[in-house]
Amino acid sequence: MAKRSNSFACQSCGAVYGRWQGRCEACNGWNTIAEESTPAPLPGGTGPRLGGGRGKGRVFTLEGLAGASMDAPRVASGIAELDRVTGGGFVKGSVILLGGDPGIGKSTLVMQACGALAKAGHRVVYISGEEAVGQVRLRAERLMLSDAPVELAAETNVEDIIATLSQGPAPKLVIIDSIQTMWTEAVEAAPGTVSQVRGSAQMLIRYAKTSGTALILVGHVTKDGQIAGPRVVEHMVDAVASFEGDGAHHFRILRAVKNRFGPTDEIGVFEMTGAGLAEVPNPSSLFLAGRDTGSPGTAVFAAMEGTRPLLVEFQALVAPSSLGTSRRAVVGWDQNRLSMIIAVLEAHAGLKLGQYDVYLNVAGGLRINEPAADAAAAAALVSSLTGAPLPADRVYIGEVALTGALRPAAQMSARLKEAAKLGFASAFLPKAGIDSAGSSSMGLDAGGDVTDLVSGIAALAPRARRKVGSEQG
Ligand code: TYD
Ligand code: MG
Repeated sequence: MAKRSNSFACQSCGAVYGRWQGRCEACNGWNTIAEESTPAPLPGGTGPRLGGGRGKGRVFTLEGLAGASMDAPRVASGIAELDRVTGGGFVKGSVILLGGDPGIGKSTLVMQACGALAKAGHRVVYISGEEAVGQVRLRAERLMLSDAPVELAAETNVEDIIATLSQGPAPKLVIIDSIQTMWTEAVEAAPGTVSQVRGSAQMLIRYAKTSGTALILVGHVTKDGQIAGPRVVEHMVDAVASFEGDGAHHFRILRAVKNRFGPTDEIGVFEMTGAGLAEVPNPSSLFLAGRDTGSPGTAVFAAMEGTRPLLVEFQALVAPSSLGTSRRAVVGWDQNRLSMIIAVLEAHAGLKLGQYDVYLNVAGGLRINEPAADAAAAAALVSSLTGAPLPADRVYIGEVALTGALRPAAQMSARLKEAAKLGFASAFLPKAGIDSAGSSSMGLDAGGDVTDLVSGIAALAPRARRKVGSEQG
């Protein structure tokens, strides 16, 4: 008999230790570690069995599998923005963890996917652990899906769920909303604890793999942006997608964080309307809508999100500081990156920003992670500082190095093409990237380093403010 061993798991991040300790070294949480008995091997699974196994795994060769019929490995939902993120549809037997803030629209998104698949004649099951069947139906009604043959259940016990699912043909898609509410009898812990989440997920994933059903686990995100509890699930699932957006805007962005069967840098853009999520096939025009072109402090960046170019507006406000220490605040971009740009502008372009508060915002609630946005952020800052509005029809692309040099970005021609399509006439880009720009109808203004960027903008400054600019310089 194998000895049943006990381990200690952090209840907030899932890190496992051999003995108890007061502080989790992985997430630095105090008093988060609790003793757990290692769950007994689950019956009827395909996973590894410890001890007492029958020792008869089947081994395949890739070559031998080549001829095997792999029928329709994907089921497309027909919602283009969703299929783009999954890599062309839900893969048979694959498991997606969908994370997002409460109220962002996760249940709405999965219900719309269910409705689309059910209407196409597939068996889909929506299991809600949070809402009663009546509430789910009300939402479906609002989404105009009340006539879709989606099977609904309000259940939280995983054994019951799997028994229910095993009746009839294997569903094409199963939704578990949410994984934090699930519990299994195999684990002695309260629902929502790490061991319950892990145990329940393990059983459901095993079910998906054996039945060939695509499974979506919905998970809530904690305030610090972690998928609470389900973080321990991240490595078990095939794909992790996060649904983002901020409460003040209607845009919602579905982003693939991990994807074993598709690209990880794709995004899907949706708009929350009164009747559910609407696809946004042309997000650039949406993010640029209502742009105030005549004012200083805004610059347009031609971003790439996966294979898709996307134009976004950077807004900056540089204002004299009334306090002893100046404030730097940023929304939609990296705070450290802003500090770096300010330091580079001070060190290499001679700007003095120490006495100024600096605010930077990416319009529309989008979050930009690309280093190539540096030039646009710098241009917005300099424009606000000098009071010179930037040309309304110009985009800025380029990474700023600590030496002040501008470095090229990938996929320059796709970015420029998108900008040209939206009526932009010129682009500021790094000298080193001009060859990769391809033949473009746009006017190209190449700069070697940040001083070129700053002097170009200072030259646009109105007379009164230019004095400030030259004092600065
Ligand atoms: P929901 O999908 O329940 O969020 P989550 O599952 O991520 O917690 O969506 C919640 C919000 O979406 C809620 O505030 C209402 C809004 N909403 C709409 O604006 N239009 C709609 O058609 C629906 C269904 C929801
Ligand atoms: Mg929900």
